[in-house]
Amino acid sequence: MNFKGKIFFDGDLSLKSIVDKKVGVIGYGNQGRAQAVNLRDSGVNIAVGLRESSISSVKVQKDNVRLDTIENVIENSDVVAIMIPDNQIDTFLSDYSSYFKNGQTILFSHGYSVIYGKTILPDYVNVVMVAPSGGGKIVRSEYKKGFGVPALVAVHKDYSKNSWDIALSYAKAIGSSRAAVFKSTFKEETETDLFGEQVILTGSIPLILIESFKVLVEEGYDPVVAWFVCFYELKTIVDLIFDKGLESFYHMVSSTARYGGISRGKKLIDDDFRFKMKSILKDIKKGSFKEELEEALSKEDNADRDIRSIFNSKEFSQIESKLLSKVKNNR
Ligand SMILES: NC(=O)c1ccc[n+]([C@@H]2O[C@H](COP(=O)([O-])OP(=O)(O)OC[C@H]3O[C@@H](n4cnc5c(N)ncnc54)[C@H](OP(=O)(O)O)[C@@H]3O)[C@@H](O)[C@H]2O)c1
Repeated sequence: MNFKGKIFFDGDLSLKSIVDKKVGVIGYGNQGRAQAVNLRDSGVNIAVGLRESSISSVKVQKDNVRLDTIENVIENSDVVAIMIPDNQIDTFLSDYSSYFKNGQTILFSHGYSVIYGKTILPDYVNVVMVAPSGGGKIVRSEYKKGFGVPALVAVHKDYSKNSWDIALSYAKAIGSSRAAVFKSTFKEETETDLFGEQVILTGSIPLILIESFKVLVEEGYDPVVAWFVCFYELKTIVDLIFDKGLESFYHMVSSTARYGGISRGKKLIDDDFRFKMKSILKDIKKGSFKEELEEALSKEDNADRDIRSIFNSKEFSQIESKLLSKVKNNR
């Protein structure tokens, strides 16, 4: 496989195309705060734009970052990074469309609103994406440690013919190229991100943890032992996989764990499971997941009721609240 021209590391990239620009960050939540302070610490001229009486303004002032109105920030920036929730982006862009100027760059950290959104982006701007593979907390903490969180970078519209340079420089300035920066597309990032969430990160893993815990407790095992086996040990395994790679990991566990895991794993992850994964991807690609989500959110259904019914285990809640912090602090 040839990674040339697809993956970039810190030494491959320069800050030149971002330090000579004014960057406006709209929103100071999870990503906005982390990216703004990382940009500032990389020597980029930044300002943050917030709604009047925004509760986030206290954080901006605390971080000693320049704060202004959204209108002023858009008008005075070369690059406008839109760091607000995805379901707000359509309305935001139509409300502020008259403030965008010829040759500006609009930067997103997720392709969702461009792929699925209804707002027509101005013709006279660049549209790029720098999407870190992690939440704001880790984007900031890794940067402070001298490292970074990998990012997918894409160009949707290259009006001024230098959008790739701008996006890649921005990715370097938030620390991502200290890990790795991958060239992608808005479509690929959006569809794979949703798939990863639904099938692995917020779909199967947390549900397998809780359901396996419940099985052991129902069969009469001590809830504390069940918690250690089903929940706590996952961290050790993930660390090992991350450190050595998935295939080597199987050669480092005991032969009982290897044989038992593979033979029983194949029963769990069978053709039916593969079929379901493909069907989840199909819903993402044809937009039916997005329609379902919009309808659910319009009825204020954000899955709270389902979470309550899935985690309806008194034992799990008690152990998690009492034991997790104790065990972590002991490490
Ligand atoms: N969260 C993640 O882990 C993560 C990871 C990778 C990429 N991303 C992407 O990063 C982008 C930002 O996500 P996020 O999680 O950082 O969002 P977030 O934390 O929910 O954003 C909150 C900020 O957005 C502002 N805001 C909300 N609605 C607004 C509106 N209508 N007009 C102006 N400002 C508004 C809020 O202002 P107030 O202070 O006034 O409330 C607040 O400052 C999204 O595209 C997301 O997909 C997120």
